[in-house]
Amino acid sequence: MSVDTAAPGAATSRPGSAPLLDVREVTRHFTVSGTRIDVLHDCTFQVERGEVVAIVGQSGSGKSTLLNLLGLLDRPSGGTYTFDGVDTTRLGEGPRSRLRGEGVGFVFQQFHLLERRTALANVGVPMVLGGVPLLRRRARARALLEAVGLEHRLHSQPHQLSGGEQQRVALARALSREPALILADEPTGALDAASSTMIMEQLLEQARIRDAAVVVVTHDPKVAARADRVVELVEGRTR
Ligand SMILES: Nc1ncnc2c1ncn2[C@@H]1O[C@H](COP(=O)(O)OP(=O)(O)OP(=O)(O)O)[C@@H](O)[C@H]1O
Ligand SMILES: [Mg+2]
Repeated sequence: MSVDTAAPGAATSRPGSAPLLDVREVTRHFTVSGTRIDVLHDCTFQVERGEVVAIVGQSGSGKSTLLNLLGLLDRPSGGTYTFDGVDTTRLGEGPRSRLRGEGVGFVFQQFHLLERRTALANVGVPMVLGGVPLLRRRARARALLEAVGLEHRLHSQPHQLSGGEQQRVALARALSREPALILADEPTGALDAASSTMIMEQLLEQARIRDAAVVVVTHDPKVAARADRVVELVEGRTR
């Protein structure tokens, strides 16, 4: 993965040697009507390539806030977050969003698919943003949808798909640029047992066959049990 740096010396790529994610003493606070709300305090952990980590914790403990930081959708208030050898806290907006586009795939609880666009088109969206040419995009989207068992639903729009099928489209979309990191926030929360097993199997397979790191927020003990490691957030602190 190549990224430009914001300032000379801001980032050093050390592929293979360092953990993929290195989170050190990360904090995040928000200010609401002049009052400071401390959400994350001193979160420290690492995630290796190919590792599946479950983040668990009570509602409001900061799981989604942490996931947004890991996905470079948000910046920490303090501490450092190193992604693939790059100190992201020192990156400007352009390099950060390129790193996010190339390096991170997201799966959300509510799928966030584009309505009135087919499954094929939805899976192609990150590749459009990444400048992948049309024919390659189509072929790859088709292959990804086949891999999640949706070869018979390529031209269906989200409202014509079941919840489990929509989540599989969202997963195919997240994988379309072969990210080093896959982030999933309650990806099985809206699904029945069979669909959630399938989504989890797909996430585990990505970690195994492509050496991608997977970080999954979950309330489901069955999902957490399949992870290599569980990080518990208690009032914004990692355990
Ligand atoms: N942009 C924001 N501004 C102010 N407060 C916020 C913001 N985002 C999150 N918070 C607060 O941070 C706390 C943690 O929120 P977060 O969404 O990370 O929790 P969570 O662990 O994901 O909970 P859930 O399991 O319910 O999804 C909450 O108290 C929330 O109100
Ligand atoms: Mg949440």
